[in-house]
Amino acid sequence: MTRPRIVVLISGSGSNLQAVLDACHSGATPADVVAVVSNRADAYGLERAEAAGVTTELVIKRDDEDRAVYDARLAVAVASFAPDWIVLAGWMRLLSMEFLSLFPDRVVNLHPALPGELAGTQAIERAWSESQTGTRTESGVMVHLVPDEGVDDGPVLGTTVVPIDASGTLETFATAIHDAEHALLVDVLTELCSPHLTPDQEGPPS
Ligand code: GRF
Repeated sequence: MTRPRIVVLISGSGSNLQAVLDACHSGATPADVVAVVSNRADAYGLERAEAAGVTTELVIKRDDEDRAVYDARLAVAVASFAPDWIVLAGWMRLLSMEFLSLFPDRVVNLHPALPGELAGTQAIERAWSESQTGTRTESGVMVHLVPDEGVDDGPVLGTTVVPIDASGTLETFATAIHDAEHALLVDVLTELCSPHLTPDQEGPPS
């Protein structure tokens, strides 16, 4: 049976991409990362992909390009890899329906906070600030489907709660969040790529 095809979209370091690459390589996740697409030429994740022998593609928004036109162009690039799953792993652009409508129920996002909390950028820093004023004792991470243009919102596929040691440091909290992200993203993709859930693919022989 053909393994599910994953395309990962990145904008930066790609530590979550690395976790997915490692899990696919080891066989823990029964899938293949067939391409990594970045909107930034300096994204370190591109080097991680190349080191793993995975095809990379840069799709950079031009200054004179409308968001809708860019998203449609991005969709063509991503679709060319025939993905079963599209994973937003540190992808720092909001996607419009010009992109999302082409991939219903196939776009997965990772957010460093729990459902309904701290949407948008700097979620780790904001959670930490709240812990320092005594209004927060825990945060977490979530993986969810992206059905529409809601920010860090959509059907939840998995969550992990991360307690905050307010007497610690932002750095140790951020490390705990990133560790939780790496583990949760791999767990969710492993489940999604199990034969009975992969879109348009036959299950295992009975
Ligand atoms: C992660 O914390 C992700 O949740 C957030 O950006 C960070 C990307 O990290 N949106 P990396 O590029 O995977 O290392």
